[in-house]
Amino acid sequence: MTIRTCIFDAYGTLFDVTAAARECAEEPGRGKLKECWQRLASDWRLKQLQYSWIRAITKSHTDFWEVTKDSLDFALEANNLSDDQELRERLLSLYWSLESYPEVPEVLENLKSNKLETAILSNGSREMLDSAVQSAKISELLDKILSVDQVKIFKPDFRVYNLVLESFTRDKNEILFVSSNGWDVASAAGFGFKSVWVNRNSEPIDRLPWKPKHVLTNLTDIPKLTKTI
Ligand code: LAC
Repeated sequence: MTIRTCIFDAYGTLFDVTAAARECAEEPGRGKLKECWQRLASDWRLKQLQYSWIRAITKSHTDFWEVTKDSLDFALEANNLSDDQELRERLLSLYWSLESYPEVPEVLENLKSNKLETAILSNGSREMLDSAVQSAKISELLDKILSVDQVKIFKPDFRVYNLVLESFTRDKNEILFVSSNGWDVASAAGFGFKSVWVNRNSEPIDRLPWKPKHVLTNLTDIPKLTKTI
């Protein structure tokens, strides 16, 4: 069946989650961060994901912004940076305007000119997503922004993927789900979507019961893929 709708994960897929620490490390007076920004960014992201899964499993939902702050506090302490409150505030403020990956606007434009529907489906709060989308200047290229705020549980709970079916009157196999998170594409495939893993960092595939249908190294070939599957 032809693909009609392309659903994108947000963080790590459209928006570069390492950009906040990287940009901050380039600012004057950030000597300590300069030495460890990559590890800080990776600790921050890993804990952000772990906390979201644990909150979903234990039914202790909170806003993704709370999870983002909690995970940054862990990462700052792990990197001996927790005494710098100004740095904490700066990193958090940069998270509201993360850079999008360079190919994002062109890929979305291409999908829209081929009359496909486009949307974000993310753990992010509606406010965080609105801010990132506006700062990347891609609002016009997205039909919908779907946040877990509507179901109050994080991915990979299937109620989150089901939000797509509640928002677009489409068959599951008319939907292409795109994420750079291996666990997210695997779970979306388990839910019944055709899924594409954007493996930017040549990572091994996740050993889960489901596999993504396709693997790409960035988003550039998504429009072509929608015509061939
Ligand atoms: C999201 C996280 C999982 O945007 O990247 O949902």
